Amino acid sequence: MQRTRFGGSEAMPRTPTDADPRSVVSQSKIDEDTRLKVMWSGYAFAKDFREERGHAYMLEDQLFTGRQAVPQPGTCIHCHASVYVPYKKAGGGDLIAGFEKFNQMPYPDAAKLVKHPVGCIDCHDSQTMQLRVTRPGFIEGIRAYKASQGVPDYDVNKMATRQEMRSFVCGQCHVEYYFKGKEKRLTYPWAKGLKVDQIYDYYQEIEFRTGSTPTPALRRSKRSTRNSRCGTRERTAAPASPAPTATCRISASAR
Ligand code: HEC
Ligand code: HEC
Ligand code: HEC
Repeated sequence: MQRTRFGGSEAMPRTPTDADPRSVVSQSKIDEDTRLKVMWSGYAFAKDFREERGHAYMLEDQLFTGRQAVPQPGTCIHCHASVYVPYKKAGGGDLIAGFEKFNQMPYPDAAKLVKHPVGCIDCHDSQTMQLRVTRPGFIEGIRAYKASQGVPDYDVNKMATRQEMRSFVCGQCHVEYYFKGKEKRLTYPWAKGLKVDQIYDYYQEIEFRTGSTPTPALRRSKRSTRNSRCGTRERTAAPASPAPTATCRISASAR
């Protein structure tokens, strides 16, 4: 089989082990471009990052990814399993309360409470087949976004148009996100808007950090960050550094 340069999820055979029973996986992106391992060193993605596959695999690929070597929170389950019923059960009938409980569990405990990858009821009302949004991350994220547009108390399932719902059901999971605070609350960074610059401003304001890195090339002083220009690739490591990477961060002045 010959891979094209456009990626995709061909089935790569693998020998199952007790720890990972999958006999087929998709191409590893970090083996294909080993610079990613350096760039992400100190970050779980340096351990395993593959081409994504179809929805039927979402739960097993999350269960067995090498990124589980770093302890992950129950929050991860939100987008990789049919959680509507398990959330409601955990919350005593309250979807959001169940979401909050799941987020704070260690991943292996949360994973025991789900059985299936995304199912019909995650996007459809079981009585009417109407489209519905079931994911708390989206319900709260879109409410924060609408508030920034001057629309208070937005309720996606009551106020969205049919056309919007056709995108929103996918946007429940196919989005940028982070885990907020020690409660690990799944949060979509939309409170300032959906554009990448607005999301960047939001992350700047909350001083967001995603882990720390031991890679010298990625450690930067405040000063060099401020002086960098977007689009200009500059080497910031000491000359003796083993890391062959250069990085560019967007500075406020360059935007
Ligand atoms: C419950 C969360 C969830 C929802 C809702 C969801 N997806 Fe996904 N989707 C995923 C996950 C997780 C994967 C990756 C699974 C894997 O690699 O094992 C995925 C994979 C995909 C892929 C394969 C990507 C590739 O590169 O091969 C496509 C296409 C896709 N989704 C489209 C959609 C569309 C269109 C919708 C709305 C109709 C949607 N998804 C709704 C979670 C979701
Ligand atoms: C907000 C929804 C969401 C959350 C939360 C989420 N994922 Fe995903 N995940 C996705 C989607 C969507 C895809 C497929 C499309 C893509 O990668 O762009 C995916 C793909 C994956 C894949 C397959 C590709 C790869 O990266 O090797 C793995 C494994 C995975 N996620 C693990 C995790 C783990 C571990 C967590 C918790 C740290 C997590 N996911 C949390 C939405 C989510
Ligand atoms: C990721 C979200 C998602 C999942 C999961 C999903 N659907 Fe849908 N479904 C949609 C969207 C989007 C439409 C188009 C709705 C529209 O036209 O407004 C749709 C349309 C439909 C329709 C046509 C409804 C009509 O009024 O014409 C049927 C029937 C349907 N889905 C059944 C299912 C069944 C059965 C499952 C489970 C096997 C399922 N869907 C899972 C998103 C989803």
